[in-house]
Amino acid sequence: MSSQPKLHTLFRRDEIEATVKRLAAEIRGDYYGKYPLLIGVLKGSFMFMADLIRLLDFPLEVEFIRLSSYGRGRQTSGRIKVVQGPRSEVKGREVLVIEDIVDTGLTTSFLLDYLRKKKPASLKLCALTDKPSRRRIPVTIDYLGFTVPDKFLVGYGLDWDERFRNLPDIHVLEGDIHF
Ligand code: PRP
Repeated sequence: MSSQPKLHTLFRRDEIEATVKRLAAEIRGDYYGKYPLLIGVLKGSFMFMADLIRLLDFPLEVEFIRLSSYGRGRQTSGRIKVVQGPRSEVKGREVLVIEDIVDTGLTTSFLLDYLRKKKPASLKLCALTDKPSRRRIPVTIDYLGFTVPDKFLVGYGLDWDERFRNLPDIHVLEGDIHF
């Protein structure tokens, strides 16, 4: 790490709130009465998940899964492992994966394959942000918040080297950052 990172706000908290409300309405329309299993991908999705489920006024179950992919760098290593899997039975459930960002698609693609093998009744993806310019594997996002530019984003759960997850807005990280 060298110089002080600079943050340039990309989405303010009120824009995020409006987008999460829109996504909740879409999800409600499809899942009301189906007791879905929402699986958040740690750590990045924790804040999005917390805000989203508070807007879902019907019975659902929340689980988290922990994968490893990026380590300390900005680039994905491409080697993905399940560090902590969902404890609930996935078989036969209406499963909705909750992601903070789809970048190369490697993580999400791996996760969807992993969950598909567990034979859910249905499997869909909700992502707060999508960076299609970086995609290496095609991923279908069923519920999408924002399409974002090829910049390093932090805040609202997104980190740089474990920092900035706590910021309520989403920012572009600028500056001369070294590892
Ligand atoms: C981020 C994000 C996604 C993944 C997307 O997680 O939460 O899971 O990267 O990248 P990809 O599309 O290139 O695979 P990260 O590994 O940074 O872990 P974190 O959520 O704990 O920060």
